[in-house]
Amino acid sequence: LQQVLFKNPNEPPLVFHWFPVIGSTITYGMDPPRFFKENREKYGECFTFILLGKKTTVYVGTQGNEFILNGKIRDVCAEEIYTVLTTPVFGKDVVYDCPNSKLMEQKKFMKVALTTEAFRQYVPIISDEVLSYFKRSPDFKGKSGTVNISPKMAQITIFTASHALQGKEIRDQFDESLADLYHDLDMGFSPVNFMLHWAPLPWNKRRDHAQRTVAKIYMDTIKRRRERGETGAQDIMWHLMNSEYKGGVKVPDHEIAHMMIALLMAGQHSSSSTSSWIMLRLASRPDIMEELYQEQVDALGADLPELTYEDLAKLPLNQAIVKETLRLHAPIHSIMRAVKQPMPVPGTKLVIPTSHVLLAAPGVSATDPHYFPNPELWDPHRWEKDSPNAPAISRSTAEDEDMIDYGYGLVSKGASSPYLPFGAGRHRCIGEQFANVQLQTIVAMTVRLFKFRNVDGSNKVIGTDYASLFSRPLEPAVIAWERRDSN
Ligand code: HEM
Repeated sequence: LQQVLFKNPNEPPLVFHWFPVIGSTITYGMDPPRFFKENREKYGECFTFILLGKKTTVYVGTQGNEFILNGKIRDVCAEEIYTVLTTPVFGKDVVYDCPNSKLMEQKKFMKVALTTEAFRQYVPIISDEVLSYFKRSPDFKGKSGTVNISPKMAQITIFTASHALQGKEIRDQFDESLADLYHDLDMGFSPVNFMLHWAPLPWNKRRDHAQRTVAKIYMDTIKRRRERGETGAQDIMWHLMNSEYKGGVKVPDHEIAHMMIALLMAGQHSSSSTSSWIMLRLASRPDIMEELYQEQVDALGADLPELTYEDLAKLPLNQAIVKETLRLHAPIHSIMRAVKQPMPVPGTKLVIPTSHVLLAAPGVSATDPHYFPNPELWDPHRWEKDSPNAPAISRSTAEDEDMIDYGYGLVSKGASSPYLPFGAGRHRCIGEQFANVQLQTIVAMTVRLFKFRNVDGSNKVIGTDYASLFSRPLEPAVIAWERRDSN
């Protein structure tokens, strides 16, 4: 009754709930995409729900994506939401523990190291890591077997990312202490830390110890590299060691160390969740896995050579696999912003007050039949021009040619594409190209070595685990593998 009587006509409709503070926390938390879709049907594209006592306004669809992700800096703020979670994990003075203008400069420093030139070096590094992983892993001994694929993909992701982005010296430490330390850091990302960030949670001691230890490992490495006067390996650490903020201030070592942690953590969950989904999708469609193998044989020859960056461009289906998997399984389902001043919603009488948090969910438009025919179907071929399931996205929204620089390089000005797995606007992902190179290389190498199928031979796909901040396949996600004869 209260929810009906005290309804403010200028505020978005409030999702009905029985209990004041809990609100819709449980239905949202169990399956966010379903929650968004069901409530969009009931209340329209813009609605509010109670998340742990906080009025949270969801605005889905392309206009919602634009409204939130391209919000002006005086209207919306990301760091206010994320800092409680990220600062203890990354460390001080980077990403969300500094003014936004500083983050923009830091993103620019990191992006400089993510060029085509760098990717040419990364592909052989990544493919070697994948080969050597499958060779030494006891789970892939023999001709065939079954395996819970997600933890394997998590390991492959950390080995490939750390080696490519941070160099061999850091990579080698992942066989020893670093893997455990990163695991402890990771506990800082559990949702309970988000809810109870003020509480002395027992595992936070280990998180804080891990943060200090990992930061010291990076700082010692920086010092050694500086003493050696190194100029050879132009990886991200090297670029940061040679970067200056506006005004000529060099990036301090502790900030370089903290950015190294942030970079690895930012990519780890999203990339490893995506590669796990790809492997599970391939196991459910062995015919597509065969097409991928054939694509490589046709494009690169039967005697498959070492993979190069240029080779990846010759494998359009391999590229489409990543694109289509991110359409259905984007690991970041909710992107949040604090509201800094009342925000009128264009074309409506609605105004979002500063007491609300805004939530963008680009996954909703990515699975909207209006843009993607048969949206729930995983069909990598839909990205081919003449496919019956090709997306109905006009050129102007698909490839917005108007570009803007928020301080870290040019990005598309509009956020109105229905397909935004890497976000948009000033907080847009800088790791998109790296993630694509990494994922495409991992998939191509895996397809060369193995045939996958579901253990029961069906086309079924496992459900999604939303219990962590990044969504991923439920575990155990067991698939059957068989080595190709030629290996
Ligand atoms: C930001 C997705 C991989 C580094 C973002 C955002 C999304 C995203 C949606 C926007 C978050 C927001 O607006 O609040 C993904 C996906 C990935 C991926 C789906 C892989 C499949 C990576 C990798 C790196 C990375 C590999 C590092 C090499 C970053 C950074 C930001 C970001 C630094 C900027 C945060 C900000 O400005 O607030 N990513 N990402 N990401 N990502 Fe990624």
